[in-house]
Amino acid sequence: MKPIPLYTFSFWLVLFLAGFLGLCITNRFVRSQKNHTLIFTRESTIRNCSCLADIRDCDYSLANLMCNCKTVLPSTMEKTSYNSDLTIWFTDASGLEMLLNFTRVCDLKLSFCGTTPLPTEYLTIWGLRKLRVNNKVKGQFPEQSVTIYSSSNNEKGDPLAVHNRDRQMFVYISFLDTSLFNGYSLLKSYSVENVSSITEHFPSLLHSDVFSMSDNESYVVTFIY
Ligand SMILES: *[C@@H]1O[C@H](CO)[C@@H](O)[C@H](O)[C@H]1NC(C)=O
Ligand SMILES: *[C@@H]1O[C@H](CO)[C@@H](O)[C@H](O)[C@H]1NC(C)=O
Ligand SMILES: *[C@@H]1O[C@H](CO)[C@@H](O)[C@H](O)[C@H]1NC(C)=O
Ligand SMILES: *[C@@H]1O[C@H](CO)[C@@H](O)[C@H](O)[C@H]1NC(C)=O
Ligand SMILES: *[C@@H]1O[C@H](CO)[C@@H](O)[C@H](O)[C@H]1NC(C)=O
Repeated sequence: MKPIPLYTFSFWLVLFLAGFLGLCITNRFVRSQKNHTLIFTRESTIRNCSCLADIRDCDYSLANLMCNCKTVLPSTMEKTSYNSDLTIWFTDASGLEMLLNFTRVCDLKLSFCGTTPLPTEYLTIWGLRKLRVNNKVKGQFPEQSVTIYSSSNNEKGDPLAVHNRDRQMFVYISFLDTSLFNGYSLLKSYSVENVSSITEHFPSLLHSDVFSMSDNESYVVTFIY
């Protein structure tokens, strides 16, 4: 038996980081032409749609009609990153977790289409730049949003979609409290910058750091609640 060569892991890591750093910015140039990705979960069915138009929240039949949708089998689902806007309509925390936990998404819109209150659990999202939330049960309330960072420092086409200050790079990780969809409350976020180790500073959040950082990298940890 040969040991797994180190380069297999390194290759994966480089790929991951390249995606991590590069993809948020490309989105800015192609948004006007590109279809939106809309994923909805309903009664253990997952539909992954590509839509040209904005579809009214939780209108499943309209989405099936207007978008190009495919059914996704949970067993074949892989964790992916989303380099353009992603909208998710969900009815329970487990469906949302399956689609989103530990996924990389820059621009995310979440619409809660269920009626059963959600438990307090934390979803981990990489690289989140902007989040919009909508709660159908209280449909009369306006959409709310938080912006965690802006990409305005990337005017020159700098592929780093993470902030890069004083030779230091920041990797964004967000923890979203799923109970925020219960009833109406103001969407809030709180960020802690320059966290060298999540396990050390927030021991109850993650049981191991997902990847180890070099000296000039650290996390920006954001709580959304
Ligand atoms: C949904 O489709 C997009 C491509 O349109 C793909 O990148 C993504 O991985 C799919 N997501 C799931 C959960 O199948
Ligand atoms: C964009 O969405 C339309 C339907 O809304 C579909 O016909 C078309 O194939 C989609 N294009 C891409 C590139 O997915
Ligand atoms: C996301 O994954 C973490 C770690 O496995 C878990 O503790 C957490 O409950 C998950 N989040 C949700 C909303 O299920
Ligand atoms: C981080 O440090 C390494 C050397 O330690 C250097 O090559 C790299 O350019 C630095 N990154 C940034 C963003 O300054
Ligand atoms: C981040 O923390 C390190 C170590 O505490 C410190 O040297 C560095 O100046 C900090 N960087 C910023 C941008 O606050």
